[in-house]
Amino acid sequence: MARVFSFMLEDLKSSFSRDLAAASSVRELLDLQSRYFGAKGAVKELFKQLKSLSAEEKKELGAAINPFSEAAQAELKEKLERVSAREDAEREARETIDVTLPSRPPRLGHLHPITIVRRELEQIFREMGYTIDPGPEVESDWYNFEALNFTPDHPARDTQDTFFVDVDKLLLRTHTSNVQIRSMERFQPPVKVLSAGRVFRRDEITMRRSPMFHQCEGLLVDKGIHIGHLRATLEHMVRRLFGSDAKMRMRPSYFPFTEPSAEVDMSCIFCKGKGCGTCSQTGWMEILGCGMVHPQVLRNVGIDPEQWSGFAFGLGIDRVAMLKFDIPNIRTLFENDLRVLQQF
Ligand code: DAH
Repeated sequence: MARVFSFMLEDLKSSFSRDLAAASSVRELLDLQSRYFGAKGAVKELFKQLKSLSAEEKKELGAAINPFSEAAQAELKEKLERVSAREDAEREARETIDVTLPSRPPRLGHLHPITIVRRELEQIFREMGYTIDPGPEVESDWYNFEALNFTPDHPARDTQDTFFVDVDKLLLRTHTSNVQIRSMERFQPPVKVLSAGRVFRRDEITMRRSPMFHQCEGLLVDKGIHIGHLRATLEHMVRRLFGSDAKMRMRPSYFPFTEPSAEVDMSCIFCKGKGCGTCSQTGWMEILGCGMVHPQVLRNVGIDPEQWSGFAFGLGIDRVAMLKFDIPNIRTLFENDLRVLQQF
């Protein structure tokens, strides 16, 4: 019986030497370690089988297994250290960073077309000495309507279908004209202020309309201001936005807070004035409303209309962006499709 075990031990020794010589990577060596010396390894198995032997034989064979096991593990450990050092060195060589390579260019973001137009407008008016103030988006009835001469049952309120906020009779401003009142309250005339931001109306979405859109409001109050100043200011703005041959027209209109009032159209760039879906077949696209500040509005904020007069205008930034960048559908501006935005 004992002879069988000593053969088994001899077998184990020679197979270990073979396997150790063949193992050439850390992975193979660790695998070998567990196959021979792990909890279920060959050496443990051999010890288990000694159970059937007499005490004498057990002692003898046990004494032969242990020195083999210790020597073999030392040999394995030594090779493992050597191979692992070699593998580390190889990995390091492979992963060396070439600091002379050119770096990858940073991926820059793009300004949204609405932001481009808003900043351009702010710059044009800043150069003319206007103060820039975006004003609040959540507003009271007074600033959005009443102080602008929309009395509580004024029919013009119907043209600005309003989103109401459930708190303190607040609403989402339907236009940026609220900033006119806030600015005149805050500053003594002369006042020159430009306000660009978001406005909200309960509108259906169409090619040209969206329930959230952007306006830019201008207000100037000073002594002796007349409609010529308004027209000159708007022409200057339109030329700066669209180039010196841009065509605009003024049409009489009505707003409760201006008298007289007008609307300004740009010739439609999509159909070159022939009429198309984007301009509702008119050949023109309305971009702003304007007029001379109504005396009652001045009185509402404690400014004497006998001494002071002013003009105001409210421009649709989205419309201008559509015309400027050849975007026929307003929805394109709000979909945030990167393929579109990356063009700006
Ligand atoms: N608030 C108007 C609107 O949203 C536009 C407007 C018209 C603004 C005339 C003005 C103005 O400042 O004078 O339809």
